[in-house]
Amino acid sequence: MIYLLEIVLIVLVVIVAGWILFVYFFTWQLVATFLKGEAPFVPTKAGILPKIAEAMKLEGNSILYDLGCGDARVLVACHKLQPQAQYVGFEKNIIPYLWARFRIWAAGLSKNIRVYKKDFFEADLSGATHVFCYLVPKQMEKLDPKLEKELKKGKRVISLRFRLPDKIPQKTISLGNEKLYIYEF
Ligand SMILES: C[S@@+](CC[C@H](N)C(=O)[O-])C[C@H]1O[C@@H](n2cnc3c(N)ncnc32)[C@H](O)[C@@H]1O
Repeated sequence: MIYLLEIVLIVLVVIVAGWILFVYFFTWQLVATFLKGEAPFVPTKAGILPKIAEAMKLEGNSILYDLGCGDARVLVACHKLQPQAQYVGFEKNIIPYLWARFRIWAAGLSKNIRVYKKDFFEADLSGATHVFCYLVPKQMEKLDPKLEKELKKGKRVISLRFRLPDKIPQKTISLGNEKLYIYEF
Protein backbone atom coordinates (compact mmCIF):
# COMPACT_ATOMS: atom_id res chain seq x y z
CA MET A 1 0.00 0.00 0.00
CA ILE A 2 2.84 2.39 0.98
CA TYR A 3 4.70 1.50 -2.26
CA LEU A 4 1.58 2.21 -4.31
CA LEU A 5 1.20 5.62 -2.67
CA GLU A 6 4.87 6.41 -3.36
CA ILE A 7 4.49 5.44 -7.03
CA VAL A 8 1.33 7.56 -7.38
CA LEU A 9 3.16 10.49 -5.74
CA ILE A 10 6.17 10.17 -8.08
CA VAL A 11 3.90 10.00 -11.15
CA LEU A 12 2.03 13.10 -9.95
CA VAL A 13 5.28 15.02 -9.36
CA VAL A 14 6.51 14.09 -12.88
CA ILE A 15 3.22 15.19 -14.47
CA VAL A 16 3.15 18.51 -12.56
CA ALA A 17 6.84 19.21 -13.34
CA GLY A 18 6.19 18.42 -17.03
CA TRP A 19 3.29 20.88 -17.09
CA ILE A 20 5.30 23.60 -15.37
CA LEU A 21 8.09 23.15 -17.93
CA PHE A 22 5.62 23.17 -20.81
CA VAL A 23 3.86 26.35 -19.60
CA TYR A 24 7.22 28.04 -18.94
CA PHE A 25 8.51 27.13 -22.42
CA PHE A 26 5.29 28.21 -24.15
CA THR A 27 5.20 31.55 -22.26
CA TRP A 28 8.88 32.17 -23.07
CA GLN A 29 8.21 31.57 -26.76
CA LEU A 30 5.26 34.01 -26.77
CA VAL A 31 7.13 36.73 -24.85
CA ALA A 32 10.27 36.35 -27.01
CA THR A 33 8.35 36.49 -30.28
CA PHE A 34 5.63 39.06 -29.65
CA LEU A 35 7.03 41.33 -26.93
CA LYS A 36 10.78 41.25 -27.55
CA GLY A 37 10.85 40.62 -31.32
CA GLU A 38 13.28 37.72 -30.89
CA ALA A 39 13.38 34.41 -32.73
CA PRO A 40 11.48 31.64 -30.95
CA PHE A 41 12.92 28.15 -30.68
CA VAL A 42 12.11 26.65 -34.08
CA PRO A 43 14.84 24.13 -34.86
CA THR A 44 16.26 23.77 -38.36
CA LYS A 45 14.67 20.82 -40.17
CA ALA A 46 16.85 17.73 -39.82
CA GLY A 47 16.70 17.01 -43.56
CA ILE A 48 18.63 20.16 -44.52
CA LEU A 49 21.34 19.96 -41.84
CA PRO A 50 23.88 18.12 -44.05
CA LYS A 51 23.45 20.75 -46.81
CA ILE A 52 23.98 23.57 -44.29
CA ALA A 53 27.10 21.86 -42.96
CA GLU A 54 28.42 21.50 -46.52
CA ALA A 55 27.67 25.13 -47.38
CA MET A 56 29.62 26.27 -44.31
CA LYS A 57 32.94 25.17 -45.93
CA LEU A 58 34.64 24.58 -42.57
CA GLU A 59 38.31 23.67 -42.26
CA GLY A 60 40.28 22.07 -39.44
CA ASN A 61 41.14 25.44 -37.89
CA SER A 62 37.65 26.97 -38.29
CA ILE A 63 35.62 28.31 -35.37
CA LEU A 64 31.87 28.33 -35.98
CA TYR A 65 29.51 30.40 -33.82
CA ASP A 66 25.78 29.61 -33.90
CA LEU A 67 23.88 32.71 -32.71
CA GLY A 68 20.82 31.30 -30.96
CA CYS A 69 21.93 27.69 -31.21
CA GLY A 70 18.71 26.10 -29.91
CA ASP A 71 19.37 22.41 -29.24
CA ALA A 72 22.79 22.65 -30.98
CA ARG A 73 21.73 20.48 -33.90
CA VAL A 74 23.50 22.70 -36.47
CA LEU A 75 26.75 22.59 -34.49
CA VAL A 76 26.52 18.80 -34.11
CA ALA A 77 25.79 18.35 -37.85
CA CYS A 78 28.77 20.54 -38.78
CA HIS A 79 31.00 18.66 -36.34
CA LYS A 80 30.09 15.42 -38.14
CA LEU A 81 31.48 16.88 -41.37
CA GLN A 82 34.49 18.67 -39.86
CA PRO A 83 35.43 17.11 -36.49
CA GLN A 84 38.70 19.08 -36.20
CA ALA A 85 37.00 22.49 -36.02
CA GLN A 86 35.77 24.27 -32.87
CA TYR A 87 32.10 25.09 -32.28
CA VAL A 88 30.47 27.70 -30.03
CA GLY A 89 26.75 28.24 -29.43
CA PHE A 90 24.84 30.98 -27.61
CA GLU A 91 21.32 30.31 -26.41
CA LYS A 92 19.06 32.38 -24.15
CA ASN A 93 16.18 29.97 -23.61
CA ILE A 94 16.94 27.58 -20.73
CA ILE A 95 15.08 24.58 -22.18
CA PRO A 96 16.84 24.27 -25.56
CA TYR A 97 20.07 25.31 -23.78
CA LEU A 98 19.83 22.39 -21.33
CA TRP A 99 18.86 20.04 -24.15
CA ALA A 100 21.90 21.23 -26.16
CA ARG A 101 24.20 20.62 -23.18
CA PHE A 102 22.77 17.12 -22.70
CA ARG A 103 23.04 16.29 -26.43
CA ILE A 104 26.68 17.42 -26.57
CA TRP A 105 27.60 15.59 -23.36
CA ALA A 106 25.81 12.38 -24.46
CA ALA A 107 27.61 12.43 -27.81
CA GLY A 108 30.98 12.98 -26.08
CA LEU A 109 31.56 16.23 -27.99
CA SER A 110 32.18 18.60 -25.04
CA LYS A 111 35.81 19.13 -26.12
CA ASN A 112 34.84 20.60 -29.49
CA ILE A 113 31.39 22.09 -28.90
CA ARG A 114 30.78 24.69 -26.18
CA VAL A 115 27.37 26.19 -25.55
CA TYR A 116 26.73 29.27 -23.38
CA LYS A 117 23.45 30.45 -21.89
CA LYS A 118 23.91 33.98 -23.07
CA ASP A 119 22.42 36.71 -25.27
CA PHE A 120 24.63 36.69 -28.37
CA PHE A 121 24.24 40.47 -28.70
CA GLU A 122 26.29 40.67 -25.49
CA ALA A 123 28.94 38.24 -26.74
CA ASP A 124 32.20 39.10 -28.47
CA LEU A 125 32.04 37.54 -31.94
CA SER A 126 35.58 38.41 -32.98
CA GLY A 127 36.83 34.84 -32.41
CA ALA A 128 34.56 33.37 -35.09
CA THR A 129 35.73 32.39 -38.55
CA HIS A 130 32.19 31.30 -39.46
CA VAL A 131 28.81 32.44 -38.14
CA PHE A 132 25.48 30.68 -38.53
CA CYS A 133 22.12 32.23 -37.66
CA TYR A 134 18.45 31.39 -38.02
CA LEU A 135 16.73 34.40 -36.47
CA VAL A 136 14.06 36.96 -37.44
CA PRO A 137 14.33 40.11 -39.64
CA LYS A 138 14.36 42.51 -36.65
CA GLN A 139 17.36 40.72 -35.15
CA MET A 140 19.14 40.53 -38.52
CA GLU A 141 18.89 44.33 -38.74
CA LYS A 142 20.52 44.70 -35.31
CA LEU A 143 23.10 42.00 -36.03
CA ASP A 144 24.47 43.49 -39.25
CA PRO A 145 26.48 46.38 -37.64
CA LYS A 146 27.72 44.04 -34.90
CA LEU A 147 29.09 41.57 -37.46
CA GLU A 148 30.60 44.43 -39.44
CA LYS A 149 32.37 45.73 -36.32
CA GLU A 150 33.52 42.46 -34.75
CA LEU A 151 34.24 39.99 -37.55
CA LYS A 152 37.65 40.04 -39.16
CA LYS A 153 37.96 40.36 -42.95
CA GLY A 154 37.13 37.29 -45.05
CA LYS A 155 34.82 35.61 -42.53
CA ARG A 156 31.78 33.65 -43.64
CA VAL A 157 28.24 34.32 -42.38
CA ILE A 158 25.39 31.97 -43.22
CA SER A 159 21.79 32.83 -42.48
CA LEU A 160 18.85 30.52 -42.85
CA ARG A 161 15.63 32.06 -44.20
CA PHE A 162 16.36 35.75 -43.41
CA ARG A 163 18.75 38.12 -45.16
CA LEU A 164 20.99 40.79 -43.69
CA PRO A 165 19.02 43.89 -44.77
CA ASP A 166 21.92 46.00 -46.09
CA LYS A 167 24.07 43.35 -47.73
CA ILE A 168 23.91 41.42 -50.96
CA PRO A 169 24.63 37.74 -50.36
CA GLN A 170 27.62 36.32 -52.18
CA LYS A 171 25.52 33.22 -52.84
CA THR A 172 21.96 32.01 -52.20
CA ILE A 173 21.19 28.33 -51.92
CA SER A 174 17.64 26.97 -52.16
CA LEU A 175 16.91 24.06 -49.84
CA GLY A 176 13.34 23.04 -50.68
CA ASN A 177 11.15 25.77 -49.16
CA GLU A 178 14.09 27.34 -47.34
CA LYS A 179 16.85 29.68 -48.47
CA LEU A 180 20.39 29.87 -47.21
CA TYR A 181 22.11 33.26 -47.60
CA ILE A 182 25.90 33.23 -47.67
CA TYR A 183 27.96 36.36 -46.99
CA GLU A 184 31.68 37.04 -47.00
CA PHE A 185 32.68 39.82 -44.58
C1 LIG B 1 14.84 29.74 -34.97
S1 LIG B 1 15.71 29.09 -33.57
C2 LIG B 1 17.14 28.38 -34.34
C3 LIG B 1 17.86 27.37 -33.47
C4 LIG B 1 19.10 26.74 -34.10
N1 LIG B 1 20.06 27.73 -34.50
C5 LIG B 1 18.70 25.90 -35.28
O1 LIG B 1 18.95 26.36 -36.42
O2 LIG B 1 18.14 24.81 -35.10
C6 LIG B 1 16.38 30.60 -32.85
C7 LIG B 1 16.99 30.41 -31.47
O3 LIG B 1 17.65 31.60 -31.10
C8 LIG B 1 17.47 31.84 -29.71
N2 LIG B 1 17.67 33.28 -29.52
C9 LIG B 1 16.91 34.30 -30.00
N3 LIG B 1 17.45 35.48 -29.66
C10 LIG B 1 18.57 35.21 -28.94
C11 LIG B 1 19.56 36.04 -28.33
N4 LIG B 1 19.52 37.37 -28.40
N5 LIG B 1 20.59 35.42 -27.70
C12 LIG B 1 20.65 34.05 -27.63
N6 LIG B 1 19.75 33.23 -28.18
C13 LIG B 1 18.71 33.80 -28.85
C14 LIG B 1 16.06 31.35 -29.46
O4 LIG B 1 15.85 31.05 -28.09
C15 LIG B 1 15.98 30.11 -30.37
O5 LIG B 1 16.37 28.95 -29.69
